[in-house]
Amino acid sequence: MPSKLSQFLGSFNCFRQKPQPTLVTSIPYEVESKGLRVSSRSIHSNDQAPTSTSTESTLHAPPLQIEVQQDSKSKSNSALVVVGKGQYELRESFPFPSLDHEREVVIRTKAVGLNPIDWKSVDYGFCLPEFPWITGREMAGVVEHVGSEVTEFHVGQRVWTSTYYKDRRAGCFQHFVTVPQHTVAPIPAGLSFEEASCLGVAGLTAAMTLWRWLQVPGSPRTETHSIPSTGYILIWGGSTVTAQFAIQLAVLGGLKVIAVTSSKTKALAEALGASRVVTRDGKSGDEIVAEIRLFCGDAITRAIDLVGPETAKHCLQALSRSQKSLFAPLAMLSSKAVVPQNISVETVEMKQFVLDPSSQAYSRALNKLVEEGRIMLPHIEVLDGGLDIIQHGLERIKKGDMAGKKVIVRMH
Ligand SMILES: NC(=O)c1ccc[n+]([C@@H]2O[C@H](COP(=O)([O-])OP(=O)(O)OC[C@H]3O[C@@H](n4cnc5c(N)ncnc54)[C@H](OP(=O)(O)O)[C@@H]3O)[C@@H](O)[C@H]2O)c1
Repeated sequence: MPSKLSQFLGSFNCFRQKPQPTLVTSIPYEVESKGLRVSSRSIHSNDQAPTSTSTESTLHAPPLQIEVQQDSKSKSNSALVVVGKGQYELRESFPFPSLDHEREVVIRTKAVGLNPIDWKSVDYGFCLPEFPWITGREMAGVVEHVGSEVTEFHVGQRVWTSTYYKDRRAGCFQHFVTVPQHTVAPIPAGLSFEEASCLGVAGLTAAMTLWRWLQVPGSPRTETHSIPSTGYILIWGGSTVTAQFAIQLAVLGGLKVIAVTSSKTKALAEALGASRVVTRDGKSGDEIVAEIRLFCGDAITRAIDLVGPETAKHCLQALSRSQKSLFAPLAMLSSKAVVPQNISVETVEMKQFVLDPSSQAYSRALNKLVEEGRIMLPHIEVLDGGLDIIQHGLERIKKGDMAGKKVIVRMH
Protein backbone atom coordinates (compact mmCIF):
# COMPACT_ATOMS: atom_id res chain seq x y z
CA MET A 1 0.00 0.00 0.00
CA PRO A 2 1.53 3.40 -0.92
CA SER A 3 2.61 5.29 2.18
CA LYS A 4 0.55 8.40 1.40
CA LEU A 5 -2.55 6.27 1.12
CA SER A 6 -1.68 4.35 4.25
CA GLN A 7 -1.75 7.62 6.21
CA PHE A 8 -5.42 7.88 5.57
CA LEU A 9 -7.05 4.56 5.73
CA GLY A 10 -6.87 3.37 9.29
CA SER A 11 -9.18 6.03 10.63
CA PHE A 12 -12.16 4.83 8.67
CA ASN A 13 -14.60 2.08 9.32
CA CYS A 14 -13.74 0.44 6.03
CA PHE A 15 -10.02 0.17 6.86
CA ARG A 16 -10.05 -0.91 10.41
CA GLN A 17 -7.28 -1.74 12.90
CA LYS A 18 -7.68 -4.33 15.60
CA PRO A 19 -6.81 -3.69 19.26
CA GLN A 20 -3.62 -5.32 20.48
CA PRO A 21 -3.36 -7.41 23.61
CA THR A 22 0.37 -8.19 23.44
CA LEU A 23 3.52 -6.47 24.63
CA VAL A 24 5.15 -5.26 21.44
CA THR A 25 3.35 -6.06 18.27
CA SER A 26 2.13 -4.86 14.92
CA ILE A 27 -1.41 -3.74 14.16
CA PRO A 28 -3.11 -5.27 11.17
CA TYR A 29 -6.08 -3.71 9.51
CA GLU A 30 -8.88 -5.32 7.65
CA VAL A 31 -10.63 -4.08 4.57
CA GLU A 32 -14.39 -4.31 4.50
CA SER A 33 -14.89 -3.17 0.94
CA LYS A 34 -11.90 -3.72 -1.28
CA GLY A 35 -13.60 -4.36 -4.57
CA LEU A 36 -15.14 -1.46 -6.44
CA ARG A 37 -17.87 -2.75 -8.69
CA VAL A 38 -19.14 -0.56 -11.45
CA SER A 39 -22.90 -0.63 -11.74
CA SER A 40 -24.45 -0.67 -15.18
CA ARG A 41 -26.76 2.28 -14.38
CA SER A 42 -26.20 5.32 -16.53
CA ILE A 43 -25.28 8.74 -15.21
CA HIS A 44 -26.14 12.13 -16.69
CA SER A 45 -23.19 14.45 -16.75
CA ASN A 46 -23.45 18.06 -15.71
CA ASP A 47 -20.11 19.78 -15.31
CA GLN A 48 -21.21 23.14 -14.03
CA ALA A 49 -18.53 25.15 -12.30
CA PRO A 50 -19.38 26.42 -8.83
CA THR A 51 -20.62 29.97 -9.00
CA SER A 52 -21.60 30.73 -5.47
CA THR A 53 -19.87 32.57 -2.70
CA SER A 54 -18.66 31.60 0.72
CA THR A 55 -19.92 33.23 3.85
CA GLU A 56 -18.14 33.37 7.18
CA SER A 57 -20.61 32.74 9.90
CA THR A 58 -21.75 33.35 13.03
CA LEU A 59 -25.20 32.22 11.97
CA HIS A 60 -28.44 32.73 13.74
CA ALA A 61 -31.11 30.08 13.80
CA PRO A 62 -33.88 30.64 11.29
CA PRO A 63 -37.44 30.38 12.51
CA LEU A 64 -38.85 26.86 12.68
CA GLN A 65 -39.67 25.73 9.18
CA ILE A 66 -42.63 23.47 8.67
CA GLU A 67 -42.80 22.03 5.21
CA VAL A 68 -45.86 20.34 3.85
CA GLN A 69 -45.33 16.85 2.52
CA GLN A 70 -46.14 16.51 -1.15
CA ASP A 71 -46.92 13.40 -3.11
CA SER A 72 -43.60 11.60 -3.32
CA LYS A 73 -44.31 10.55 -6.90
CA SER A 74 -44.08 14.19 -7.96
CA LYS A 75 -40.69 14.72 -6.37
CA SER A 76 -37.32 13.82 -7.75
CA ASN A 77 -33.97 13.74 -6.08
CA SER A 78 -30.65 15.30 -7.13
CA ALA A 79 -27.22 14.10 -6.09
CA LEU A 80 -23.53 14.62 -6.52
CA VAL A 81 -22.61 11.14 -7.66
CA VAL A 82 -19.23 9.42 -7.56
CA VAL A 83 -18.90 7.63 -10.88
CA GLY A 84 -15.34 6.39 -10.52
CA LYS A 85 -12.20 6.90 -8.48
CA GLY A 86 -11.75 10.67 -8.26
CA GLN A 87 -14.74 11.37 -10.53
CA TYR A 88 -17.98 13.14 -9.69
CA GLU A 89 -21.04 13.97 -11.76
CA LEU A 90 -24.12 15.94 -10.86
CA ARG A 91 -27.29 13.97 -11.50
CA GLU A 92 -30.64 15.66 -11.28
CA SER A 93 -33.20 12.98 -11.86
CA PHE A 94 -33.15 10.35 -9.16
CA PRO A 95 -36.56 9.11 -8.09
CA PHE A 96 -37.72 10.05 -4.59
CA PRO A 97 -36.22 7.41 -2.23
CA SER A 98 -38.20 4.38 -1.16
CA LEU A 99 -38.04 3.00 2.38
CA ASP A 100 -36.35 -0.32 3.16
CA HIS A 101 -38.42 -0.59 6.32
CA GLU A 102 -41.04 1.41 8.20
CA ARG A 103 -38.63 2.82 10.80
CA GLU A 104 -36.85 4.96 8.23
CA VAL A 105 -36.98 8.73 7.84
CA VAL A 106 -36.44 10.74 4.66
CA ILE A 107 -34.83 14.13 5.33
CA ARG A 108 -34.69 17.04 2.90
CA THR A 109 -31.11 18.31 3.05
CA LYS A 110 -30.65 21.92 4.11
CA ALA A 111 -26.97 21.86 5.01
CA VAL A 112 -24.20 19.28 4.75
CA GLY A 113 -20.90 19.11 6.62
CA LEU A 114 -17.73 18.30 4.68
CA ASN A 115 -15.07 16.02 6.14
CA PRO A 116 -11.61 14.74 5.19
CA ILE A 117 -13.05 11.24 4.63
CA ASP A 118 -15.28 12.63 1.84
CA TRP A 119 -12.41 13.55 -0.46
CA LYS A 120 -10.04 10.82 0.70
CA SER A 121 -12.48 8.01 -0.08
CA VAL A 122 -13.11 9.33 -3.59
CA ASP A 123 -9.50 10.29 -4.42
CA TYR A 124 -8.14 6.97 -3.18
CA GLY A 125 -11.11 4.79 -4.01
CA PHE A 126 -12.24 3.24 -0.73
CA CYS A 127 -15.50 3.14 1.26
CA LEU A 128 -17.27 3.06 -2.13
CA PRO A 129 -19.16 -0.24 -2.36
CA GLU A 130 -19.87 0.28 -6.06
CA PHE A 131 -20.23 2.95 -8.74
CA PRO A 132 -22.22 5.11 -8.99
CA TRP A 133 -22.18 5.94 -5.27
CA ILE A 134 -23.17 8.90 -3.12
CA THR A 135 -20.91 10.07 -0.31
CA GLY A 136 -21.28 12.66 2.48
CA ARG A 137 -21.67 11.60 6.11
CA GLU A 138 -23.46 14.34 8.02
CA MET A 139 -26.30 16.71 7.32
CA ALA A 140 -29.14 18.73 8.78
CA GLY A 141 -32.53 19.28 7.24
CA VAL A 142 -36.28 18.91 7.48
CA VAL A 143 -38.16 15.62 7.82
CA GLU A 144 -39.89 15.01 4.51
CA HIS A 145 -41.37 11.58 4.96
CA VAL A 146 -41.57 8.98 7.75
CA GLY A 147 -42.26 5.25 7.76
CA SER A 148 -45.37 4.03 9.54
CA GLU A 149 -43.34 2.80 12.55
CA VAL A 150 -41.48 6.06 13.11
CA THR A 151 -42.58 7.33 16.48
CA GLU A 152 -40.10 10.05 17.33
CA PHE A 153 -40.25 12.34 14.32
CA HIS A 154 -42.85 14.04 12.21
CA VAL A 155 -42.88 15.70 8.82
CA GLY A 156 -41.56 19.24 8.99
CA GLN A 157 -39.29 18.68 12.00
CA ARG A 158 -35.76 20.15 11.94
CA VAL A 159 -33.23 17.33 12.44
CA TRP A 160 -29.62 16.25 11.94
CA THR A 161 -28.11 12.84 11.26
CA SER A 162 -24.86 10.92 10.99
CA THR A 163 -24.71 8.22 8.34
CA TYR A 164 -22.90 5.03 7.37
CA TYR A 165 -21.27 4.87 3.95
CA LYS A 166 -22.70 1.46 3.05
CA ASP A 167 -26.18 2.74 2.19
CA ARG A 168 -26.28 4.90 -0.93
CA ARG A 169 -29.62 6.36 0.14
CA ALA A 170 -27.86 7.72 3.26
CA GLY A 171 -25.11 9.57 1.35
CA CYS A 172 -25.57 13.22 2.33
CA PHE A 173 -24.55 14.81 -0.98
CA GLN A 174 -28.13 14.54 -2.24
CA HIS A 175 -31.38 16.39 -1.67
CA PHE A 176 -33.20 13.58 0.13
CA VAL A 177 -31.31 11.45 2.66
CA THR A 178 -32.87 8.23 3.97
CA VAL A 179 -31.81 6.88 7.36
CA PRO A 180 -33.09 4.79 10.28
CA GLN A 181 -34.92 6.83 12.90
CA HIS A 182 -32.47 6.03 15.72
CA THR A 183 -29.73 7.92 13.83
CA VAL A 184 -31.85 11.08 13.61
CA ALA A 185 -31.75 13.77 16.29
CA PRO A 186 -33.72 16.98 16.67
CA ILE A 187 -31.73 20.16 16.02
CA PRO A 188 -31.01 21.75 19.39
CA ALA A 189 -32.98 24.94 20.01
CA GLY A 190 -31.25 28.02 18.68
CA LEU A 191 -29.06 26.24 16.12
CA SER A 192 -29.18 26.86 12.40
CA PHE A 193 -29.14 24.00 9.90
CA GLU A 194 -25.55 24.94 9.08
CA GLU A 195 -24.43 24.75 12.70
CA ALA A 196 -26.28 21.49 13.30
CA SER A 197 -24.69 19.87 10.26
CA CYS A 198 -21.31 19.67 11.99
CA LEU A 199 -22.56 17.51 14.84
CA GLY A 200 -22.82 14.23 12.92
CA VAL A 201 -19.14 13.52 12.32
CA ALA A 202 -16.81 15.67 14.43
CA GLY A 203 -19.23 16.12 17.34
CA LEU A 204 -20.45 12.55 17.49
CA THR A 205 -17.01 11.03 16.88
CA ALA A 206 -15.56 13.04 19.75
CA ALA A 207 -18.45 12.11 22.02
CA MET A 208 -18.39 8.39 21.25
CA THR A 209 -14.59 8.18 21.28
CA LEU A 210 -14.36 9.77 24.69
CA TRP A 211 -17.42 8.30 26.36
CA ARG A 212 -17.44 4.82 24.87
CA TRP A 213 -13.86 4.01 23.98
CA LEU A 214 -11.68 6.19 26.23
CA GLN A 215 -13.80 5.81 29.37
CA VAL A 216 -14.13 9.54 29.95
CA PRO A 217 -16.81 10.37 32.53
CA GLY A 218 -20.00 11.85 31.14
CA SER A 219 -21.29 8.98 29.06
CA PRO A 220 -25.07 8.72 28.88
CA ARG A 221 -24.72 4.95 29.02
CA THR A 222 -23.34 2.75 31.78
CA GLU A 223 -19.87 2.14 30.43
CA THR A 224 -17.32 0.01 32.23
CA HIS A 225 -14.43 2.16 33.45
CA SER A 226 -11.19 0.38 34.17
CA ILE A 227 -8.88 3.38 34.42
CA PRO A 228 -9.13 6.34 36.82
CA SER A 229 -11.55 9.09 35.85
CA THR A 230 -8.89 11.74 36.37
CA GLY A 231 -5.52 12.74 34.96
CA TYR A 232 -4.41 13.92 31.54
CA ILE A 233 -5.67 13.26 28.05
CA LEU A 234 -3.39 14.10 25.14
CA ILE A 235 -5.10 15.40 21.99
CA TRP A 236 -2.68 15.59 19.07
CA GLY A 237 -4.20 17.80 16.39
CA GLY A 238 -5.86 19.98 19.02
CA SER A 239 -7.35 22.47 16.57
CA THR A 240 -9.03 19.93 14.30
CA VAL A 241 -12.80 20.21 14.31
CA THR A 242 -13.04 16.81 16.04
CA ALA A 243 -10.57 17.91 18.70
CA GLN A 244 -12.53 21.07 19.38
CA PHE A 245 -15.42 18.91 20.58
CA ALA A 246 -13.09 16.42 22.29
CA ILE A 247 -11.26 19.06 24.34
CA GLN A 248 -14.52 20.41 25.71
CA LEU A 249 -16.00 16.97 26.45
CA ALA A 250 -12.80 15.90 28.22
CA VAL A 251 -12.83 19.00 30.40
CA LEU A 252 -16.50 18.45 31.21
CA GLY A 253 -15.55 14.88 32.17
CA GLY A 254 -13.01 16.16 34.68
CA LEU A 255 -9.83 15.47 32.73
CA LYS A 256 -6.95 17.85 32.09
CA VAL A 257 -6.16 18.29 28.41
CA ILE A 258 -2.76 18.68 26.81
CA ALA A 259 -3.05 19.50 23.11
CA VAL A 260 -0.66 19.81 20.18
CA THR A 261 -1.42 22.51 17.60
CA SER A 262 0.37 25.00 15.40
CA SER A 263 1.06 28.40 16.93
CA LYS A 264 -1.75 29.93 14.88
CA THR A 265 -4.40 27.79 16.56
CA LYS A 266 -2.89 27.57 20.04
CA ALA A 267 -5.27 30.21 21.42
CA LEU A 268 -8.25 28.27 20.07
CA ALA A 269 -7.31 25.10 21.97
CA GLU A 270 -6.68 27.14 25.10
CA ALA A 271 -10.03 28.90 24.79
CA LEU A 272 -11.76 25.52 24.60
CA GLY A 273 -10.21 24.47 27.89
CA ALA A 274 -6.84 22.82 27.21
CA SER A 275 -4.63 23.12 30.30
CA ARG A 276 -1.52 23.18 28.18
CA VAL A 277 -0.94 23.58 24.44
CA VAL A 278 2.37 22.50 22.91
CA THR A 279 2.98 24.18 19.57
CA ARG A 280 4.44 22.05 16.83
CA ASP A 281 6.00 24.69 14.54
CA GLY A 282 9.58 23.83 13.60
CA LYS A 283 9.81 20.99 16.13
CA SER A 284 10.44 17.31 15.60
CA GLY A 285 8.00 14.78 17.01
CA ASP A 286 10.59 13.72 19.58
CA GLU A 287 10.98 17.31 20.74
CA ILE A 288 7.22 17.67 21.13
CA VAL A 289 7.03 14.41 23.12
CA ALA A 290 9.85 15.64 25.37
CA GLU A 291 7.98 18.89 25.96
CA ILE A 292 4.77 17.02 26.76
CA ARG A 293 6.57 14.73 29.20
CA LEU A 294 8.32 17.67 30.84
CA PHE A 295 4.92 19.12 31.65
CA CYS A 296 2.83 16.01 32.41
CA GLY A 297 5.45 13.52 33.51
CA ASP A 298 4.08 9.97 33.36
CA ALA A 299 0.48 11.08 34.01
CA ILE A 300 -1.13 10.84 30.55
CA THR A 301 -3.49 7.85 30.54
CA ARG A 302 -5.60 8.70 27.50
CA ALA A 303 -4.73 10.00 24.03
CA ILE A 304 -6.38 10.73 20.70
CA ASP A 305 -4.44 11.30 17.51
CA LEU A 306 -6.15 13.29 14.76
CA VAL A 307 -3.25 13.74 12.36
CA GLY A 308 -1.67 10.48 11.10
CA PRO A 309 0.68 7.55 11.69
CA GLU A 310 3.74 9.63 12.62
CA THR A 311 1.93 11.60 15.31
CA ALA A 312 0.09 8.46 16.45
CA LYS A 313 3.50 6.91 17.11
CA HIS A 314 4.43 9.95 19.18
CA CYS A 315 1.20 9.71 21.17
CA LEU A 316 2.22 6.18 22.18
CA GLN A 317 5.56 7.60 23.36
CA ALA A 318 3.89 10.35 25.38
CA LEU A 319 1.41 8.08 27.14
CA SER A 320 2.15 6.75 30.62
CA ARG A 321 4.72 3.96 30.72
CA SER A 322 3.46 2.54 33.99
CA GLN A 323 -0.32 3.08 34.21
CA LYS A 324 -3.02 1.36 32.22
CA SER A 325 -3.74 3.71 29.31
CA LEU A 326 -6.10 4.02 26.34
CA PHE A 327 -5.27 5.33 22.88
CA ALA A 328 -7.65 6.16 20.01
CA PRO A 329 -5.76 6.67 16.72
CA LEU A 330 -8.52 8.37 14.73
CA ALA A 331 -6.28 9.19 11.78
CA MET A 332 -4.42 5.84 11.51
CA LEU A 333 -1.80 3.91 13.37
CA SER A 334 0.92 2.22 11.35
CA SER A 335 0.85 -1.57 11.25
CA LYS A 336 4.48 -1.37 12.43
CA ALA A 337 3.69 0.73 15.49
CA VAL A 338 5.12 -0.54 18.74
CA VAL A 339 2.41 -0.70 21.39
CA PRO A 340 3.58 -1.08 24.99
CA GLN A 341 1.68 -3.61 27.09
CA ASN A 342 0.07 -1.04 29.37
CA ILE A 343 -1.58 0.76 26.42
CA SER A 344 -4.77 -0.46 24.85
CA VAL A 345 -5.35 0.75 21.30
CA GLU A 346 -9.07 1.43 20.93
CA THR A 347 -10.70 0.78 17.59
CA VAL A 348 -13.25 3.54 17.21
CA GLU A 349 -16.06 2.27 15.01
CA MET A 350 -18.44 5.09 14.21
CA LYS A 351 -20.56 2.65 12.22
CA GLN A 352 -21.80 1.46 15.61
CA PHE A 353 -23.89 4.60 15.78
CA VAL A 354 -25.91 3.24 12.88
CA LEU A 355 -25.67 -0.50 13.56
CA ASP A 356 -26.48 -0.30 17.28
CA PRO A 357 -29.73 1.59 17.97
CA SER A 358 -28.79 2.10 21.64
CA SER A 359 -26.04 4.46 20.42
CA GLN A 360 -28.80 7.00 20.02
CA ALA A 361 -28.02 7.90 23.65
CA TYR A 362 -24.79 9.57 22.47
CA SER A 363 -26.45 11.93 19.99
CA ARG A 364 -29.08 12.85 22.55
CA ALA A 365 -26.43 13.58 25.21
CA LEU A 366 -24.41 15.65 22.74
CA ASN A 367 -27.56 17.57 21.81
CA LYS A 368 -28.26 18.32 25.46
CA LEU A 369 -24.78 19.72 26.05
CA VAL A 370 -25.06 21.91 22.96
CA GLU A 371 -28.54 23.08 23.92
CA GLU A 372 -27.36 23.97 27.42
CA GLY A 373 -24.50 25.97 25.95
CA ARG A 374 -21.90 23.74 27.58
CA ILE A 375 -20.26 22.88 24.24
CA MET A 376 -19.16 25.60 21.83
CA LEU A 377 -19.50 24.75 18.17
CA PRO A 378 -16.58 25.20 15.78
CA HIS A 379 -16.41 28.35 13.72
CA ILE A 380 -17.96 27.48 10.37
CA GLU A 381 -17.43 28.64 6.82
CA VAL A 382 -20.63 28.30 4.79
CA LEU A 383 -20.44 27.69 1.05
CA ASP A 384 -23.74 28.82 -0.34
CA GLY A 385 -23.88 26.83 -3.54
CA GLY A 386 -25.66 23.51 -3.03
CA LEU A 387 -24.46 20.35 -4.74
CA ASP A 388 -22.54 22.43 -7.31
CA ILE A 389 -20.08 23.72 -4.76
CA ILE A 390 -19.30 20.58 -2.78
CA GLN A 391 -16.23 19.69 -4.81
CA HIS A 392 -14.87 23.19 -4.30
CA GLY A 393 -15.46 22.79 -0.55
CA LEU A 394 -13.65 19.46 -0.50
CA GLU A 395 -10.68 21.10 -2.22
CA ARG A 396 -10.70 23.74 0.55
CA ILE A 397 -10.33 21.15 3.31
CA LYS A 398 -7.87 19.12 1.28
CA LYS A 399 -5.49 22.10 1.34
CA GLY A 400 -5.51 21.79 5.14
CA ASP A 401 -5.35 25.50 5.91
CA MET A 402 -8.72 25.82 7.62
CA ALA A 403 -7.17 26.83 10.98
CA GLY A 404 -9.93 25.13 12.94
CA LYS A 405 -12.86 26.15 10.72
CA LYS A 406 -15.50 23.68 9.60
CA VAL A 407 -16.71 23.81 5.98
CA ILE A 408 -20.47 23.54 5.51
CA VAL A 409 -22.42 23.57 2.24
CA ARG A 410 -25.87 25.16 2.26
CA MET A 411 -28.26 23.35 -0.06
CA HIS A 412 -30.83 24.94 -2.29
N1 LIG B 1 -12.49 7.37 12.57
C1 LIG B 1 -13.41 8.26 12.41
O1 LIG B 1 -14.55 7.91 12.42
C2 LIG B 1 -13.04 9.71 12.25
C3 LIG B 1 -14.00 10.70 12.51
C4 LIG B 1 -13.62 12.05 12.42
C5 LIG B 1 -12.33 12.38 11.99
N2 LIG B 1 -11.46 11.38 11.69
C6 LIG B 1 -10.09 11.70 11.20
O2 LIG B 1 -9.51 12.62 12.12
C7 LIG B 1 -8.69 13.54 11.41
C8 LIG B 1 -9.14 14.97 11.77
O3 LIG B 1 -10.43 15.23 11.18
P1 LIG B 1 -11.09 16.66 11.34
O4 LIG B 1 -12.22 16.76 10.38
O5 LIG B 1 -11.35 16.93 12.76
O6 LIG B 1 -9.86 17.53 10.85
P2 LIG B 1 -9.75 19.02 10.32
O7 LIG B 1 -10.57 19.92 11.16
O8 LIG B 1 -9.93 19.05 8.85
O9 LIG B 1 -8.19 19.25 10.66
C9 LIG B 1 -7.50 20.32 10.15
C10 LIG B 1 -6.50 20.78 11.21
O10 LIG B 1 -5.48 19.79 11.42
C11 LIG B 1 -4.39 20.45 12.04
N3 LIG B 1 -3.14 19.77 11.78
C12 LIG B 1 -2.62 19.49 10.55
N4 LIG B 1 -1.41 18.88 10.70
C13 LIG B 1 -1.17 18.79 12.04
C14 LIG B 1 -0.08 18.28 12.82
N5 LIG B 1 0.99 17.74 12.25
N6 LIG B 1 -0.17 18.36 14.17
C15 LIG B 1 -1.25 18.90 14.76
N7 LIG B 1 -2.31 19.40 14.07
C16 LIG B 1 -2.27 19.35 12.72
C17 LIG B 1 -4.39 21.86 11.44
O11 LIG B 1 -4.32 22.79 12.48
P3 LIG B 1 -2.94 23.52 12.87
O12 LIG B 1 -2.14 23.66 11.62
O13 LIG B 1 -3.34 24.83 13.42
O14 LIG B 1 -2.32 22.66 13.91
C18 LIG B 1 -5.76 22.00 10.76
O15 LIG B 1 -6.49 23.12 11.18
C19 LIG B 1 -8.82 13.19 9.93
O16 LIG B 1 -7.76 12.33 9.59
C20 LIG B 1 -10.13 12.44 9.87
O17 LIG B 1 -10.21 11.59 8.77
C21 LIG B 1 -11.77 10.07 11.82
